[in-house]
Amino acid sequence: MRIGLVNFKGGVAKTTSSIYLAAAACVRDLEVTVHDLDPHAEATKWARISRQLGHPLPFPVLAANGETLEDLADDRKLHILDAAPSGPGLESAIAHADLVIVPTSESAADVQQTWMALDTLKSRGVPAWVLMCRAEPRTRSFREAIGALDSRGVPRFDTVIGKSQALKHGPAVDLGIGASRSPRLAGYGQVLAELGEEGLL
Ligand SMILES: Nc1ncnc2c1ncn2[C@@H]1O[C@H](COP(=O)(O)OP(=O)(O)OP(=O)(O)O)[C@@H](O)[C@H]1O
Ligand SMILES: [Mg+2]
Repeated sequence: MRIGLVNFKGGVAKTTSSIYLAAAACVRDLEVTVHDLDPHAEATKWARISRQLGHPLPFPVLAANGETLEDLADDRKLHILDAAPSGPGLESAIAHADLVIVPTSESAADVQQTWMALDTLKSRGVPAWVLMCRAEPRTRSFREAIGALDSRGVPRFDTVIGKSQALKHGPAVDLGIGASRSPRLAGYGQVLAELGEEGLL
């Protein structure tokens, strides 16, 4: 299963969601790899910084491109494709994903790019689910964004990833996978559970 994290907008939590979803998969004992398609290599940096800080990620993060993704289609493991917001790193994620998650906040700029991404994914026949991230669910703009998505029947996760200090700190945070305390997954465990309930894992 190849899940792409795609939006045409930068900074909507594609990389954060890739890393946390992979961590959530590890907690469920799924074999998972993150494929870093972004030339800025933020997922790869995340892995390196986590390692340097003494809490290495419990899954591989591989530099990727269209070529490296070619042989994954028949692989039954979970592959998470962290897309770039434009260019080949976006195109390859769309071309190779069985399913795309479109992270977005409720901000007008993010939502506008989300509609464009959804239109493109539809035209390519790639199933897409919206995940509200960095969200402030009590705001009017959040309610309006949800209303617009629901009125057009866009598949979306019930789970909402709220604005959180921990997520803002990226690789500085020890996710605590495999430790005696509970892992810190900030809601991404429920996102994965929803995928499972839909038979998508
Ligand atoms: N739920 C959240 N709460 C607060 N900050 C968040 C949350 N999710 C992500 N962030 C922060 O938002 C910023 C953008 O996140 P991220 O790098 O994951 O986005 P991206 O879509 O991968 O960006 P790019 O398009 O540049 O690759 C980062 O500083 C990250 O720490
Ligand atoms: Mg990124």
